[in-house]
Amino acid sequence: MEIIDGKRISEEIRQEIGAEVASMIDKDLRAPHLAAVIVGDDPASQTYVASKEKQAKGVGFTSTVYRMPADTSREELMGVIEFLNNDNDVDGFIVQLPLPAHIDEQEVLLSINPAKDVDGFHPENVGRMALGLPCYIPATPNGIMELLKRYQVETAGKSCVVLGRSHIVGSPVSILMSQKTTPGNATVTLCHSRTQNLKEVCREADILIAAIGQPRFVTADMVKEGAVVIDVGIHRVEDPSKKSGFRLVGDVDYDEVAKKASMITPVPGGVGPMTIASLLQNTLKAAKKQVYS
Ligand code: GUN
Repeated sequence: MEIIDGKRISEEIRQEIGAEVASMIDKDLRAPHLAAVIVGDDPASQTYVASKEKQAKGVGFTSTVYRMPADTSREELMGVIEFLNNDNDVDGFIVQLPLPAHIDEQEVLLSINPAKDVDGFHPENVGRMALGLPCYIPATPNGIMELLKRYQVETAGKSCVVLGRSHIVGSPVSILMSQKTTPGNATVTLCHSRTQNLKEVCREADILIAAIGQPRFVTADMVKEGAVVIDVGIHRVEDPSKKSGFRLVGDVDYDEVAKKASMITPVPGGVGPMTIASLLQNTLKAAKKQVYS
């Protein structure tokens, strides 16, 4: 069994990006600029945005964070987005989700300039991805494809089962895995809460991607001998043996499933670290379009 080391691969990607930024600076081009907008003080979102900012700076990007209070009005948020859409010094930006309940998420995503939508959440980018056209692919699905590529996982003609149909992970990764690409060309089954005979369906998978949002949902009896298992989940569970009182687990019962899998992503250190690396890749792509045009 081989562990798919997302921490190592994400460091590799960040080094590649850092080298490209250095060569842009050598050519007297400005550094790529990623901006993030965060509304409210959700602790998980604050942590994510702080990591994005730190890693962006780590590869030599300029990073700006717009921190707005929870009672920010729709108009105020739209004003900041409008400013970022038109600021030629900003290559890409994200609006951290979730947003406070009084703000319509869809309306906000639609208002982002698709050329700067490095999260790949704008319907134009989603549509372009579905059609296999140049676009920004959302960070987590892109990170999964990058892991499969760099570990040279054979996907063509293989059976791929995706658990979960979220707009952020399950749905896009199922589209990418079915496309005529490498990795890709898999025979994809997308499972969700209404799927019947789930255990049997999962047991057919050569590649099993778990993005269902339930701790240790995937047990060893759901996994085929020799399968490649990608775990997108991240959950805190109580663990009195830890100083913190908790530990992190994924959507997969790692200890048992690892005995059957040929390759598996751990939690933490698997898919998680890949997501920010993917966001940085998208931002570099946006910057190159802007500064070389
Ligand atoms: N909230 C959780 N994940 C993400 C993400 O990838 N992008 C944004 N904008 N918000 C998120």
